[in-house]
Amino acid sequence: MSNPNFEAPILITGATSPIAAAYATICAARGQGILLAGRNVIEVERVAQDLRVRHGAMISVVAYDAAKPGSGLTLAQQALDAGVKSAIAFHGIMEGKNAFHSMMQVNCLSVAELFEELLTLADKENRKLVLAGVSSVAGDRGRQSNYPYGATKAALNAYLSGLRNRTHLSGHRVITVKPGFVRTRMTEGKVSPTSPLLAEPAKVANDIDHAMRGTSNVLYTPWFWRGIMFVIRSIPEVIFKRLRL
Ligand SMILES: NC(=O)c1ccc[n+]([C@@H]2O[C@H](COP(=O)([O-])OP(=O)(O)OC[C@H]3O[C@@H](n4cnc5c(N)ncnc54)[C@H](OP(=O)(O)O)[C@@H]3O)[C@@H](O)[C@H]2O)c1
Repeated sequence: MSNPNFEAPILITGATSPIAAAYATICAARGQGILLAGRNVIEVERVAQDLRVRHGAMISVVAYDAAKPGSGLTLAQQALDAGVKSAIAFHGIMEGKNAFHSMMQVNCLSVAELFEELLTLADKENRKLVLAGVSSVAGDRGRQSNYPYGATKAALNAYLSGLRNRTHLSGHRVITVKPGFVRTRMTEGKVSPTSPLLAEPAKVANDIDHAMRGTSNVLYTPWFWRGIMFVIRSIPEVIFKRLRL
């Protein structure tokens, strides 16, 4: 089924993430134009060049540093100028509690800044957008092993839920993506490479593509994380606080 949002170019941030690169490959393979954004322009350009060569795709590259407040305003203008009708924010960092402020900026505040500006600009032109934020199952419940990161993703979840509610009647779509463990730099040395819970970036990218083109509001990927997180959320706090998770 043809969907005008997926004939127009898409904005992809955090383009050097293996999940983002796998998703960009899916978009490029169907001939969709892409605006790839990232802080390391040389590496982002490498991803772009690979997509151009393999798929003959129209790929533009822009610098974007989510750690710098205000950079989302510039990126939103560049995206709308490029004719973008959908955007997905993959960028994110996972660090310890000493980096709580910078994690909140990169994982939540920057996404909010970018999406608010995209919607403001799109509304002026009566353009309808599909926006997706890549959050994490870690945002569903704080655990001692990574609660500062989890807290930033929980904030992102609440933000995206509110934005979905606010924009629903104006015809925009907002999607929350909650991956479990994915084989990337972020899980290297933290999750056993042979763990059956560790998903490949291409699998997660495929699920994201279905969600972007379908009607999902909240995507757990792979699918079994929806059940796992239902159980984790259901454990009473009096028991949960004793667990070593
Ligand atoms: N891997 C997992 O198990 C997992 C699970 C749940 C959710 N996630 C989420 O999935 C997303 C992608 O992560 P990943 O696993 O693919 O890890 P990754 O390889 O470390 O990718 C993170 C991406 O974020 C970008 N980034 C970091 N700080 C940035 C900044 N200040 N400005 C712009 N871009 C910045 C990185 O760019 P550089 O190349 O310049 O560093 C990179 O492109 C993240 O939001 C992460 O929280 C991952």
